[in-house]
Amino acid sequence: MASNRGPVSFSRGDDGELTVKRGGGGVVSGLSSVASNEDVLWVCAALSDADRAAIRHAHGGMLDLDGTAGGSAVRMLDIPPNIFNRAYNTVANSVLWFVHHMLFDIPNRPQFGLAFRRDWAAYRDYNLAFAEALADTSGGSDTRAVIQDYHLTLAPRMLRTLRPEFKIAHFSHTPWAPVDYYRLLPDDVAVDVLEGILGADHAGFLCQRWADAFLDCCEHVLGADVDRNRQQVSHAGHRTGIGVHPLGVAADELISRGSQADVTVRISSLREVICDRKLIVRVDRTELSKNIVRGLAAYRELLLAHPQWQGKVMLLSLAYPSRHDLPEYREYTASVQRLARAIDEEFGSPDWTPILLQTNDDYARSLAGYRLADVLLVNPVRDGMNLVAKEGPILSDRGCVLVLSREAGAAAELADDAIMINPFDVAATAAALHEALVMPDEERIRRCQSLRSKAGAVPPTAWFASQLAALDAQ
Ligand code: G6P
Repeated sequence: MASNRGPVSFSRGDDGELTVKRGGGGVVSGLSSVASNEDVLWVCAALSDADRAAIRHAHGGMLDLDGTAGGSAVRMLDIPPNIFNRAYNTVANSVLWFVHHMLFDIPNRPQFGLAFRRDWAAYRDYNLAFAEALADTSGGSDTRAVIQDYHLTLAPRMLRTLRPEFKIAHFSHTPWAPVDYYRLLPDDVAVDVLEGILGADHAGFLCQRWADAFLDCCEHVLGADVDRNRQQVSHAGHRTGIGVHPLGVAADELISRGSQADVTVRISSLREVICDRKLIVRVDRTELSKNIVRGLAAYRELLLAHPQWQGKVMLLSLAYPSRHDLPEYREYTASVQRLARAIDEEFGSPDWTPILLQTNDDYARSLAGYRLADVLLVNPVRDGMNLVAKEGPILSDRGCVLVLSREAGAAAELADDAIMINPFDVAATAAALHEALVMPDEERIRRCQSLRSKAGAVPPTAWFASQLAALDAQ
């Protein structure tokens, strides 16, 4: 397997010692439960100086993790920091992520000038480092390489050149842009990304909508031969199967994690603050696509349009740090904090704080929030899947109501049992929050049970197995 973020990351303590912890994010959660297999090699990038220091002592970048990463071998690539920075921050996170989530401020950005050419060359080098590491394994013609996400779109084709006997899969954890938006990319880059993924024998997506958008791009940008009945693309003498593999949650593991002492301690302290009020919960990386600002604006409109909720409801917003090397993310975090403060000042009273905004990383507190939620708000402007929408109902003690954006990949599975919203319509989101808060117990519990069974239907091991089965069938 190959992914930018690996199963572990290192940090240096005050005493100068390196400590290891499990990596975060949806891709790592998905892959970690697969990594118990000792036949698996997981190739990832060193993300920080502490990661680089850890691999400097490791033979050929192979980490000795003593079970921390499941059972798989982990090879962390020491990509030079300037190459890594251009590939990860500039191309992957500021261009490809922005294209697929449609985040550009179009009157001003993007501008693909000379600097972009240097960044694009770095993205190629970074992809080549992964392809070479995957090629450099002792496996024979039964070797299957499963390459993850928008960081590694060129690696499948590169690996195919190096090891034509391998079976190669690529999986996109993001949405895929509609063809007209995808065409913002410089023409040669738009072609390279598609051809890179088509170097794989199988390309996977989280829902049919993203797979269809990819097929549209193959047809209209490349002029490839697209067979929608068979879900196949033929291009440059090679055929790639397209598959939809929704990712769900390992429910039993999550439930047992959610009953551990660190979670119950946090439940008790949150209960002291919430008292008998209703609780709306949201859990996000502080990510531009998560739409936290409009979510806060909708909460404000709820308090204005339905003043009976003043003093009777609280919003717990857990907004974890993400991609702080990018100025847009730092500014976004600041605007979330500003708006939350403004709402507290406008409505708060000595015995009621309308919003609890917490921005430090604390997994146990997220699980406590899920357990206590009456309403779970998941309103991204666009999202590949969104696992919060699936984790929340699984853990909710009383049966929460899910208010869900129609632009999240999870909508394909959960729409029937959630209250669906247009994430740009703040007034409609406020109305949906009110509807969720007053939903009768019986209906709330029935819907939550149905959400729960859908959310746990394809745990990560089954998700991964379905990709391998599709790859084998090519
Ligand atoms: C999304 C992406 C993942 C990424 C995660 C966290 O889920 O699809 O590839 O790992 O966000 O982002 P980060 O940049 O911190 O790895």
